[in-house]
Amino acid sequence: MAKVKTSFFCQSCGAQSAKWVGKCPACGEWNTYVEEVLETTKTTTKPWEESSSKRSATRQAVALEQIKAGSVSRIQSDDKEFNRVLGGGIVPGSLILLGGEPGIGKSTLLLQLAVSLPELKVAYVSGEESEQQIKLRADRLGGDANNCFVITETSTQSIFQLLKQLKPDLVIVDSIQTLHTAFIDATPGSVSQIRQCAGEMQRYAKESEIPVFLVGHITKDGNIAGPKILEHIVDTVLQFEGDQHYAYRILRTIKNRFGSTAALGIYEMQNNGLRQVNNPSEILISQREEPLSGITIAATIEGLRPMLIETQALVSPAVYGTPQRSATGFDLRRLSMLLAVLEKRCGFQFGIKDVFLNLAGGIKVEDPAIDLAVVCALLSSFEDVALSPRICFAGEVGLSGEIRAVNRIEQRIAEADKLGFEQVFISKYNKGLETGRFRATITPVSKVEEVYQLLF
Ligand code: TYD
Ligand code: MG
Repeated sequence: MAKVKTSFFCQSCGAQSAKWVGKCPACGEWNTYVEEVLETTKTTTKPWEESSSKRSATRQAVALEQIKAGSVSRIQSDDKEFNRVLGGGIVPGSLILLGGEPGIGKSTLLLQLAVSLPELKVAYVSGEESEQQIKLRADRLGGDANNCFVITETSTQSIFQLLKQLKPDLVIVDSIQTLHTAFIDATPGSVSQIRQCAGEMQRYAKESEIPVFLVGHITKDGNIAGPKILEHIVDTVLQFEGDQHYAYRILRTIKNRFGSTAALGIYEMQNNGLRQVNNPSEILISQREEPLSGITIAATIEGLRPMLIETQALVSPAVYGTPQRSATGFDLRRLSMLLAVLEKRCGFQFGIKDVFLNLAGGIKVEDPAIDLAVVCALLSSFEDVALSPRICFAGEVGLSGEIRAVNRIEQRIAEADKLGFEQVFISKYNKGLETGRFRATITPVSKVEEVYQLLF
């Protein structure tokens, strides 16, 4: 019997080692090495080439000048958000990875895409759900299901054979972790299997010019399970994120060979699937009559879209020895920093208070321009003075309490203007702004103390 060749792979970054090591020398993670069996069958024919192996030999080197870029026509789906996130539609022959936590709606998003393209033949390969489950879901989504073919198969060889018969225009694989190839003798979901299967899918996509979507699971720390290598193989990496307890979902691009990574799509999960959200600001601001303390509105930008988000803070006397700090949708360390700035520069005693911070809609914001709104919400709750709901804020707060300039200020103000805000607080250092263009009053401020004096 031939000796089985094995090797150790880091499950986090995909590095290979002949021996087991405790700490990965490549990515520094501990205890991530797992033994995997290397190839046991040696064949040179690739599964999808069995009868058409002459095809690749007919390819020739082409001068860059002679390639017509205009000949690439992207597939446009009904879903405008999705087209935009992909940089203007689906590029033929591209391999697209969609990552996200379990239950966030990856399968729903892609099945919805499949049934919304009646003129295209779509193959939906599922290793996770049965045909009945997919049918139930498709019924729930509505749409035209005549063009969609379900393949519940997990061996790549069989999948390629079925695809050869079916000749689809678009392939969806849910999920890459469930696939396995006979060329490698490792368990499905292991690093070598994922890498090999993704590689086979990539060659299939490139040679057939059919776009392939791969669903990828995410590990606890938010990385796409399996190695980073997967991100190198594919053309586009999309991430679907959101809070399970809220209906809003954000589709981000992490990598895109055919477009910008700044685009972003916002969806709402409903009973009959995902609905595109075209006016995020209007839903992220709760409609209320009387002003309440601790609430401010931040003019943020996510991706390239301006979004007005409600920021809520609650500051109350600490009952227990250690005051509590809690933040939803906002970085807790950044909250501690802002509290320290308020304590040191303005003399507010936050050290003896519990502080809670919440952003509306379960949305996570990384834009630093939200700082000023957070600070004002904290002060408003601390003083128990309500601010007018017609004021919004855009500014980053520095360590010495200075208000820093933020990017795309005009876009932010224009969005606030559109929604009828009367006053916008911005940094004094945002230069070259034509304030006359806007209906809202623009108030430039340079320090946290200054904002406090103006508002309270
Ligand atoms: P799913 O697409 O199965 O998530 P993933 O593939 O990322 O694991 O979506 C799961 C959730 O979406 C599930 O909790 C139910 C909810 N859902 C709806 O609210 N409405 C719908 O129309 C569908 C199909 C699912
Ligand atoms: Mg799923």
